[in-house]
Amino acid sequence: MRILGIETSCDETGVAIYDAERGLLSDVLYSQVVMHSDYGGVVPELASRDHVRKLLPLIREAMQQADTTREQIGGIAYTAGPGLVGALLVGAAVGRSLAWGWGVPAIGVHHLEGHLLAPMLEASPPPFPFIALLVSGGHTMLITVKGVGQYEIIGESLDDAVGEAFDKTAKLLDLGYPGGPALEQMAKKGDANRFRFPRPMTDRPGLDFSFSGLKTFAMNTLRANEMNGQIDQTRADIALAFQTAAVETLAIKCQRAIRETDIKQLVVAGGVSANSALRERLDRMATKEHAAVAYPRLKFCTDNGAMIAYAGYLRLKAGQMEPARFGARARWPIDTLAAL
Ligand code: KG4
Ligand code: ZN
Repeated sequence: MRILGIETSCDETGVAIYDAERGLLSDVLYSQVVMHSDYGGVVPELASRDHVRKLLPLIREAMQQADTTREQIGGIAYTAGPGLVGALLVGAAVGRSLAWGWGVPAIGVHHLEGHLLAPMLEASPPPFPFIALLVSGGHTMLITVKGVGQYEIIGESLDDAVGEAFDKTAKLLDLGYPGGPALEQMAKKGDANRFRFPRPMTDRPGLDFSFSGLKTFAMNTLRANEMNGQIDQTRADIALAFQTAAVETLAIKCQRAIRETDIKQLVVAGGVSANSALRERLDRMATKEHAAVAYPRLKFCTDNGAMIAYAGYLRLKAGQMEPARFGARARWPIDTLAAL
């Protein structure tokens, strides 16, 4: 079976083809980052229009790269939520209609399920059960994963997602959009001894997170030091103090989750899993806990079509499919998915 996967939930148009025997055959991506950077963040209406402009050419490109004809496609997977509803509808409309036209089944994929299964595309996929740390622009969650669709949320952010906190702090430091990768670069020039930010909610039991306070802490620190000259150094020092606090907080909660569940396999996915300080810190923690950590390759940390093709493949293989209508959901709790 060969599956066409389509991702359009936010500001990336991603298309990939996954083959049951041969694995990933192609994976193409168009990022709208340059367009949205003029506005300092994603403009939903512009995102939808750009998906309309790019999706069909990208599908053609992915088919060509995979040397695949439409007769060889056995099913189509598209992201059905959560995300920007106008953007989702582009992928859903194109994906569902193509499937109808080509006479193959279609499946609406949960974006976060895509992220947390992305490490399965690597050469040595992590075994079930595992704990997934999902860290993206919209979500921060700890989930126990016993199998595909068997998800229990054991911790989540009560306010901002960690990626959102990276983006907001980066904006404050004039680092543009999207802020996460730029903040990571800026932090490399920071002095680790200058500022110390709090590790929110680590001094009480539980696995929930709160990241909105860190951004406020960054703002207050910037204001208090704005007049001291050497503003570039101050910015770098704040970037490093913020990143260290965010990473440390995530690592403390992951360690706690490993101890509480006695599951020794961690999977880290979503945009922030590209952060190298996070990877280093989690690797150190895991070694101490005699646990293993799996990450997707860097390009599959952020949004992409490959993870959607793969998650869709697993669900279509299990016999799931959508009727000849489609929808998209801006909100969609991951623990309501059917177990396979
Ligand atoms: O998974 P993703 O591409 O989109 C969502 O589903 O949200 O995640 C995007 C988020 C953004 O907040 C971005 O700033 C953050 O991931 N991000 C990073 C890094 N690369 C992407 N944050 C910190 N360090 C990075 N290297
Ligand atoms: Zn995402």
